Amino acid sequence: MALPPGFLDELRARTPLQAVIGRRVRLTKSGRNWKGCCPFHGEKTPSFYVYEDHFHCFGCGVHGDAVSFVMQSQGASFPEAVNQLAAEAGLDVPKPTPQAAEAERRRLDLHGVLEAAAAAYRRRLFLPEGARALAYLRGRGLSEETIAAFGLGWSGEGRGALAAELAREEVPQAMLLAAGLMRPGDGDRPAYDLFFNRVMFPIRDRQGRTISFGGRILGDGQPKYVNGPETDVFSKRRTLFALDRAREGARGGAAVTVVEGYMDVIALHQAGFTGAVAPLGTALTEEQLTLLWRLSPMPTLCFDGDGAGARAAARTVELALPHLTPGQSLRLATLPAGEDPDSLVRRNGPAGFQAVLDAARPIGEALFDLMHEGVNDVSPESRAAFRTRLMEAAARIADKGLSAEYRSLLMDRFYASRPRPARFEQGRRGEAPKPRGGRPLSVPRPVPQPAVAAAERARQLVAILLRHPRLLHDVEEAFGSLALSGWLGRLRDAILQWGSAADHLDSEALITHLHAIGLAAEAAQALSAVPQPLTGCAAPDAMPAEAEAGWWHFFGLMNPVRLEEEVAVAMAEFARHADSAVERRLIALCAARNALRQGDMDSGGA
Ligand code: UTP
Ligand code: MN
Repeated sequence: MALPPGFLDELRARTPLQAVIGRRVRLTKSGRNWKGCCPFHGEKTPSFYVYEDHFHCFGCGVHGDAVSFVMQSQGASFPEAVNQLAAEAGLDVPKPTPQAAEAERRRLDLHGVLEAAAAAYRRRLFLPEGARALAYLRGRGLSEETIAAFGLGWSGEGRGALAAELAREEVPQAMLLAAGLMRPGDGDRPAYDLFFNRVMFPIRDRQGRTISFGGRILGDGQPKYVNGPETDVFSKRRTLFALDRAREGARGGAAVTVVEGYMDVIALHQAGFTGAVAPLGTALTEEQLTLLWRLSPMPTLCFDGDGAGARAAARTVELALPHLTPGQSLRLATLPAGEDPDSLVRRNGPAGFQAVLDAARPIGEALFDLMHEGVNDVSPESRAAFRTRLMEAAARIADKGLSAEYRSLLMDRFYASRPRPARFEQGRRGEAPKPRGGRPLSVPRPVPQPAVAAAERARQLVAILLRHPRLLHDVEEAFGSLALSGWLGRLRDAILQWGSAADHLDSEALITHLHAIGLAAEAAQALSAVPQPLTGCAAPDAMPAEAEAGWWHFFGLMNPVRLEEEVAVAMAEFARHADSAVERRLIALCAARNALRQGDMDSGGA
């Protein structure tokens, strides 16, 4: 049955093995895996384990994946099992074509060629011609076991060595080209070996089959690594270096960790971090993230402690956001500046890297800091833009519930990051305040506002409340936060006090109350058509929604930063529970904010 490349992987990925086996065997949870009594030999105590993508019986030794389980438990043939599982997974089994059959034969052959090459390279490492390479690897602290486990080798010195050796095994040059071991020459130049004079690092797929190589120069020189090209069996973006070994490691409980280089991975495995993998010299791809999540719900990504590392982390987070779910997340770790995992474990032993892992932070936390980088916390404009970007980041998470959680987490951090007002920050003797980063803080000067205009805005705002005191429920706190003095201040305090005690927030009752406590003149002045006519929102017959939006508009004119914050809080709240009260509030706030941004209704007239 010739299936196109990747079909079986896709089928396995879409088939929950535990569910397939669970139909025939009673399974109970065992750590991250499942176990039950083996269906293939009689037993009373469970020794049959089901992992993410395979099963294994420690009693009788049976072993396999979903397809082989169906074959063995139902006596089905391979095509029958594949057809059945594909139907269940909603996948169409591609029709076998002669081309597909030919392609499969070729792939099988390619694996054979690559394995033959790997064997040749391994052998050469221990021949006299490989002595320098072996010394180099030992010099970098690798043990014999590590060299063997990763199948490291030596390419041979000059060009043509591999072709000559494999020709003896009757491997035609066309196969070496197809396997990516040789490059076609152009014009009349003959094809040539890709790898020579290099230490060879086999790149293996998740089952441990060699699919390509990376070759490192001895010592310094450029390019440091040469990697095999894309072939029928090797796709760089779908492969992680040491994925096969990390699967074993993860099964044994090792933390799945992504680092940058081949040597980092190898040094980490040798130091006991057997869940380490690396991309192949490029930034992590979505396909690689998917591979990682099949190993662990929470892999850790390590980044360099410099600016480039932070940028790489930000890019990866960007990539991962849409795919996050409650059971599929990431942790981010930062290496000490100037160190890589290899240098770290060589210098400080496993504890050196363990400390990095221990300090890793969940993506939600790290996200805020990555996005905060370079934000000017003092200017309202840049804070407003920053908040918008945070909200957008949370919105990119497709999982609704998680998206809402991220929004509130990010907003909490956002408010906690608010710089304290300048008057508290100003040093006692008037020296410039210094924030954490050590850069001098530039405290923005408030744009001078004509006092009259400001007072008029405040008057309009108070007038709206006198006519629509029901708004107090929603605006009380913001109203209290305004710096009002003189008669407007007295009026404000009286209104708030009345609001906290009144049974009915009714305009007439409020004005009666103000008369009773001797603020009749102030109330009248607030509702007067002088110096400017009152806003339509303060009219007794204004719609409640209109009054609310109008109130926030005048508020925004007086304190734009706080208005933006109110919008953000309402948005986060709305994302958490979208009830009609929250929605109404959000609409009013957004209307006010948008009007403010467009600059209409300007200085309080309208
Ligand atoms: P590094 O330069 O960090 O490599 O590049 P390393 O693995 O730590 O190697 P050593 O310690 O110098 O021996 C990280 C990864 O980037 C890719 C390789 O995958 C490498 O492991 N790379 C690097 C290339 O593909 N080509 C290069 O020329 C350099
Ligand atoms: Mn290195």
